[in-house]
Amino acid sequence: MKTQLIKIDIDDPEQGLVDEAGKLLREGQLVAIPTETVYGLAANALDAKAVCSIFTAKGRPQDNPLIVHIADNDGLAPLVKSLPPKAEALAQAFWPGPLTIILPRADVVPAVVSAGLDTVAIRMPSHPVARAIIRSAGVPLAAPSANRSGSPSPTTAGHVMQDMDGIIPLIVDAGACGVGVESTVVSMVSDTPVILRPGAVTKEQLERVIGTVMIDSGVLHRVSDTVKASSPGMKYKHYAPRAKVYMVEGDSDAYCDYVNSKPDAFALCFEEDIPKLKVNYVNYGSQDDASSQARLLFTSLRELDRLGAATVYARAPQKTGVGLAVYNRLIRAAGFDIIKL
Ligand code: TXA
Ligand code: MG
Repeated sequence: MKTQLIKIDIDDPEQGLVDEAGKLLREGQLVAIPTETVYGLAANALDAKAVCSIFTAKGRPQDNPLIVHIADNDGLAPLVKSLPPKAEALAQAFWPGPLTIILPRADVVPAVVSAGLDTVAIRMPSHPVARAIIRSAGVPLAAPSANRSGSPSPTTAGHVMQDMDGIIPLIVDAGACGVGVESTVVSMVSDTPVILRPGAVTKEQLERVIGTVMIDSGVLHRVSDTVKASSPGMKYKHYAPRAKVYMVEGDSDAYCDYVNSKPDAFALCFEEDIPKLKVNYVNYGSQDDASSQARLLFTSLRELDRLGAATVYARAPQKTGVGLAVYNRLIRAAGFDIIKL
């Protein structure tokens, strides 16, 4: 299959191009679309066959459910069996934006979308191109990140091309994603809301709207094979470049001394570390700016592959605010291998 890449203006998406994507989606085809978090691999969420082809294209395990994307508030009610007041408050406060809410699944959503679970994950992206394409398609769109399963999520159309060339008919290119890590996933199906995946919408922000929110232990710790994961995506090795990554916890000086003692390795560092490093490096933002780290992390992991890195020592980010999302992705890229200095 020939993969077409079309560029589109994020501020003023050309309707003809939007409709081209919308038409393919209505016909049951896959289209990679930009969102504010990462690029998504979209299909008509109400078409079980189209949704199945997402799993094939990604090489995604069948038991890992997908997020359904809507463009407008009235898109939510038909997809869920019930809408608790706290979930409604979250939608009101954070949509459109990088928050996914898990709710009881309505029968209209094919079971394959949720990998057989009786819940469904819903999000309203804020990216103008994503919303225009959902509206043009006229159906909700199931869309996981548009990477091959296991590799870092794509934050540019070029990343999508690396993974999906020849596999899907269309990639819509609206430039680099602003957030850079996937949405916060919060489950609202039991009395206590639980964060299953941290993202740009933080625990503190959620708590300001609905009170206490828990963080699932799988966010920071390895989910053992024998335990049922709250979110199936937690079990899988994720976000990993080809290199072996170690996460190193320590201050800038200790980190740089440590990495300098490994002359063949690469550093995945902060900007502030660069002057002290004697080894090859890729930086992922500033040590005090978690948003810059989120924006750059996946690009930097792919860059390490491009440079042929075999061993990478990554400086650990703070676990607070958006930093928790960065830490969550990096610890998985490192297969939970931590070096404490
Ligand atoms: O920002 C994002 O969320 C991006 C863009 C494209 O919107 N999408 C994304 O999708 O990251 P994906 O499939 O890569 O990640 C979805 C995560 C997985 O960890 C999955 O296990 C979890 O959400 N998930 C989906 N439905 C769920 C459900 N019903 N219950 C628990 N976890 C669910
Ligand atoms: Mg993903």
